[in-house]
Amino acid sequence: MNAFTRPEHTALTAHDDENCNTSSNPSFNDVIDTRLSRRSMFRAAIGTAGTAVLGTVSLSACGGGSDPLPLPAAATPVVEAPPVVVANNLGFVAVAKSKADAVVIASGYTATPIYALGDPLTAATPAYKNDGSDTDFDNRAGDHHDGMEYFGLNAAGTGRDANSSERGLLVMNHEALSGQFLHVDGVTARPRPVSEADKEIPAHGVSIVEVRKGANGQFAYQQGSPLNRRITPLTPVQINGVARAHGLMKTRYSPAGFDCRGTINNCGTGYTPWGTFLTGEENWAGYFTRSSTDNTARGGTAANSVVSLNRYGRAQGATSRHGWETAGTEDKYARWNISQTGTSPDGSDDYRNELNTFGYMVEIDPYDKTQAIRKRTTLGRFAHESGVFGRLTAGKPLAVYMGDDSHGEYIYKFVSAAAWSAADASPANRITTGDKYLDAGKLYVARFNADGSGQWIELNIANPAIAAYASYKFADNGDVAINSRLAADAAGATKMDRPEWCAVHPVTGEIYYTLTNNSSRKVEATGTQTAVDAANPRSYADSFNGGAAGALGNVNGHIIRMRENADEQAATAFTWDVYLFGAQADADAAKVNLSSLTNDQDFSSPDGLWFSPKTGFCFIQTDDGAYTDATNCMMLIGKPGKVGDGTTPTLSYTKADGSAVTIQTRMGAKPAPDTLKRFLVGPVDCEITGCCETPDGKTVFINVQHPGESISKANIADPSKFTSHWPGNAGYGAGGANARPRSATLAITKHDGGLIGS
Ligand code: FEO
Ligand code: CA
Ligand code: CA
Repeated sequence: MNAFTRPEHTALTAHDDENCNTSSNPSFNDVIDTRLSRRSMFRAAIGTAGTAVLGTVSLSACGGGSDPLPLPAAATPVVEAPPVVVANNLGFVAVAKSKADAVVIASGYTATPIYALGDPLTAATPAYKNDGSDTDFDNRAGDHHDGMEYFGLNAAGTGRDANSSERGLLVMNHEALSGQFLHVDGVTARPRPVSEADKEIPAHGVSIVEVRKGANGQFAYQQGSPLNRRITPLTPVQINGVARAHGLMKTRYSPAGFDCRGTINNCGTGYTPWGTFLTGEENWAGYFTRSSTDNTARGGTAANSVVSLNRYGRAQGATSRHGWETAGTEDKYARWNISQTGTSPDGSDDYRNELNTFGYMVEIDPYDKTQAIRKRTTLGRFAHESGVFGRLTAGKPLAVYMGDDSHGEYIYKFVSAAAWSAADASPANRITTGDKYLDAGKLYVARFNADGSGQWIELNIANPAIAAYASYKFADNGDVAINSRLAADAAGATKMDRPEWCAVHPVTGEIYYTLTNNSSRKVEATGTQTAVDAANPRSYADSFNGGAAGALGNVNGHIIRMRENADEQAATAFTWDVYLFGAQADADAAKVNLSSLTNDQDFSSPDGLWFSPKTGFCFIQTDDGAYTDATNCMMLIGKPGKVGDGTTPTLSYTKADGSAVTIQTRMGAKPAPDTLKRFLVGPVDCEITGCCETPDGKTVFINVQHPGESISKANIADPSKFTSHWPGNAGYGAGGANARPRSATLAITKHDGGLIGS
């Protein structure tokens, strides 16, 4: 969802357009031979193939004893040719901007819908009628397809073969809802009917769905595969890491704080070096309600829990997004009300702490449903986007890069306590391998300096700035993880323009982050506005094609990149520059279109971000509301250089009092015509998100999220009022030209069978 959405979107969709960061942090105080693709992670295991190491790691931080006895699928030896990093530039002709209700893709390529909202997962589940009458979303594709990863399956379909490009599992997030389309007559007002809540809740979460390549070379999803499954906001989940059994995690559901229920608003993803799926919980806070007198119940505005709730976007009186707490008194509805209603001193008799059980990186073994899903609390709690692993070097710790998507939030890195062992690329037990690497380690937050340097600041109770923080009294490192945002405030992190997804360049190891846009970024800080700085240097007025003045701020977003000092993933310092500034091509070249984007390259609000390990190409996806006067959301492919290959432009501003401000930023080399091109444009009202490929690089999967989401209850009965009918109008599923729109997965192939973008 995007901050710069049109007015009709805002009530339902602009949930991440929040600024809860009232800290006084200034926005900032004022080697290329190591391949680290996931393929290379697997390649590192070749030498130990067949000698899979049992998961005998210590579970000291996570108490994994409550797991069922693991019955791991056979670990398949992994053998693969080294990644081919294509030297040439992009080989396709750029596509024009489009407002058609269709997927427009570069000539020579095909994009085929293969898995859409409501598609049945079990053999017994009826086909999706797509008229609002369908039920049983526990056994159907959820809504709002988002981040996605591909996990290879062996030929028999019984276990992992990381190399398989013929058969695999697509694991994807279902971030949110286009709720009107889920019901025959649209969404009923509160109190919500049980029948509607019971569809909407399981339409969130994660899908695991088998896909197989047919004789025609195209993938299709496999209804009835025994590996298909849904994970929903009601699926039991185990709390792991530093916050396990913490006092702040105690709920009526789990008085000891060992467990919690489900995952929600899952956005970005990660692919672990040991073959599991990471899903980031993003705008979870908005699903919960708090009574208008809850501050008093909790001891007043200075009480720790009240400070925390405010910082995470749940001030007293906040209403829930869907009102599920009004559907009944059953626990599965009551838990969406996080007001303090019980009399226990620790929260074990109500859901006052329920919010603390969301906001994590969650690890799932897609191959093995007997393994408990884990919330990896040591990786911090915020509006998580993707979780991407950096360089893998045997004997050295792992790094996981993460962003917090809200106005003025931060960029984070986790560094594991355990050193990487190549044998763990094909472990006997994947999820306990996750315990080994993700439950103990250091969490850092980024500070960007004007001179192009930066620091990773550890979030630890031993940091005096955290231990003595005036606004919130941290008890221990569990508290620091649960309240990462407050700890990062205390530590002096740099407020960024909404960090979305990150990705690691497979050749340089540099870390790229999309900063999607920020309507709170202004020339000077006033109230909740944040002043421009070197790393977030732009604030300007949008211009619409018709000439009307638009929103103010960093309207179109940018993509920042970082290089760790000495290329060490555990480094505590880095250098940075801006890979690309989003802009419309005709915008002011001195203030807005700094990257000199042409009509073949211009974009707004970068969000999804991914590098192909086969080609080293960068896939950039947009979730935009600012440039939709000219084009639907899109995917571009780029071939970036590296940090420091560009210039240091200066932007000049005038403050309200008439004084001048100059900001010098750092920008990578401007793209050439054949190093950045628009590759695909989606249907009306969608965002393009999620990106992964088969190991041979010949099929790329992406998601089209919420086409046609702009619909009111009043118009749900009149298909002529829908803004989109995709993919029904492209021949997928029921409804044809009058179909209700559906989020869906696309499989992209090149007609000549080549690598995508080459
Ligand atoms: Fe779900 Fe911040 O995008
Ligand atoms: Ca988004
Ligand atoms: Ca515009």
